Amino acid sequence: MSTETAQIQTYLAEQAALIEKELAGSLPSDWKVPAPLREAMMYSLLAGGKRLRPVMVLEAAKALGGDEKAALPVALAVEMIHTYSLIHDDLPAMDNDDYRRGKLTNHKVYGEAMAILAGDALLTHAFYSIVQAYRTHGVSAESVADIVEELSRLAGAHGMVGGQAADMEGEQGVTSLEQLEYIHYHKTSDLIVFSLKAGGRIASASKEQLAALERFGSNLGLAFQIQDDILDLVGDEQKLGKPVQSDVKQQKVTYPFFIGIEASQAKVEELTRQAKQAIIEASFPHPERLLQIADFLMRRDH
Ligand code: FPP
Ligand code: MG
Repeated sequence: MSTETAQIQTYLAEQAALIEKELAGSLPSDWKVPAPLREAMMYSLLAGGKRLRPVMVLEAAKALGGDEKAALPVALAVEMIHTYSLIHDDLPAMDNDDYRRGKLTNHKVYGEAMAILAGDALLTHAFYSIVQAYRTHGVSAESVADIVEELSRLAGAHGMVGGQAADMEGEQGVTSLEQLEYIHYHKTSDLIVFSLKAGGRIASASKEQLAALERFGSNLGLAFQIQDDILDLVGDEQKLGKPVQSDVKQQKVTYPFFIGIEASQAKVEELTRQAKQAIIEASFPHPERLLQIADFLMRRDH
């Protein structure tokens, strides 16, 4: 491993630990919440994970000279949305998976009904968390409104949920590569785009800077999902914390299914190059971390 890879890996692990600590306190302790619901929510929220989306919120803010602390409630919110989506994605009605992040899936521990509700509650709590950026960190009400509007779009019917619905409808022999691209952009890329732009908004990004973050995020997000497809085929179950070959078993359409592993890998590299180019051309005051994260993700093994 190169020194640079080791450095960014250590840095990301430190950031993930910071986020995990904040997530642990994100549901007010004085709220009366039925114990199994609180437990099911926290089980998945604190199950490890790379915390990439919250890291992207914080790093986009920092790349533009913004305040990391003010961005934190939004970083937590995006991880709540991501975690709810994983809980629901693992349900028997969707991908029916027993393991996630090296642990039993939520419904395997708490039952289907509580897993659905834990997901619902995490989704709702994300919006509570975003508002705290205004209440306690002085982010303007207008920026918070922009962030809430964008999250509603990119996590909802026009975004992640739409992508997931299209994914559920996908079928080998029927779905085209263009349709698969739609699925990947929406079910995965959109939340990454949201994370980066929300961080940018907290740092008062200009229109041009937001457009650069959008280009960075959509290319990186597509690359991330193609890499996810590749790892499902050739990854290490232990490192991934979930069974491999799940797409093959479920006869899912994936990039490797259409174009093979090597071309998929080349596509990941090209998309990463295009993503980095967007940031380089936009001349951010502190672009280094975002560029390092892009390189790191291209080489990830889990
Ligand atoms: C792994 O993220 C997850 C993805 C690549 C996203 C897949 C998209 C869905 C499951 C959408 C589901 C949507 C609904 C509405 C059910 P990761 O590698 O960052 O995982 P980690 O957080 O465990 O590290
Ligand atoms: Mg799925």
